[in-house]
Amino acid sequence: MNEIELAYVGIDVPDPGSLDGFFRDVIGLVPGDDPHTWRNDRKVHRLIVHEGERNDAAFVGFEATDEAAFDRAVARLGAAGFDTAGGDAEERKVQRLARTTAPWGVPVEIVLGLEDAPAPFSSTLVPGGFLTEGVGFGHSVFATTAFDESHRFLTEGLGLGQSDWLEMEIAAGIELEVRFYHCNARHHSLALAKAPFELPQRLHHLMFETKERDDVGAAFDRAWATDLGIPNGLGRHDNDGMFSFYVASPAGFQVEVGHGAKVVGDDWDGNRRYDRISAWGHQPLRTA
Ligand SMILES: [Fe+2]
Repeated sequence: MNEIELAYVGIDVPDPGSLDGFFRDVIGLVPGDDPHTWRNDRKVHRLIVHEGERNDAAFVGFEATDEAAFDRAVARLGAAGFDTAGGDAEERKVQRLARTTAPWGVPVEIVLGLEDAPAPFSSTLVPGGFLTEGVGFGHSVFATTAFDESHRFLTEGLGLGQSDWLEMEIAAGIELEVRFYHCNARHHSLALAKAPFELPQRLHHLMFETKERDDVGAAFDRAWATDLGIPNGLGRHDNDGMFSFYVASPAGFQVEVGHGAKVVGDDWDGNRRYDRISAWGHQPLRTA
């Protein structure tokens, strides 16, 4: 616990500028120094959008809390059969970087020393700011057909703990299975959905957690005022207890804005099956 945290996610889209308005004016992120990079706290970048045909997540970074944690993370991955290679630490604005590819097909980078931005963080749209201190920038959720091997990568390789899982029938004969993983007090920094077949996008959604509940409501109002899809209106998840909604980005993957999720401690004993996504709400509101 508390050796790594979610540092950043890279996204490839054909036109990086097509996401600028969404991240800035709907989600309330703040631009980084480099074009199409986004901050939600003091760090130099949390989302890195590049031009690419993929239209999907291009990489995921986990920041080790110190040098020894970095070495342990790399050694653990290697021992689990996921060898790492070097990468461009300078471009990511980190001191050290080791890279491997997760079984769900997205490169995962272990980094040390992600730089702070020159300017302090302040978002006029999210006046309370985002919850990131000691818990990483948020969470990311991927869908994969390589479910069991991905589970092994996350638990044996990255050393994440399984928080709990969701198993339910979403329609006659169609099962949904999602596993949730933590590396610190955030209920999940990453979750995996079992895909019945290869989906066009592996990235299902990114989540940003606000410190103030009203900042979720304000973000919902901004999303509602666009013509973007709202796959899930306001609701509260059953497992992590988060009050949130989901908006579809112009690139297709979704963004969840939430507040007030459960906190995971060393004494976490909640690893059990859930059979519903939400305690209330989260109804599909609008398709784009
Ligand atoms: Fe989520």
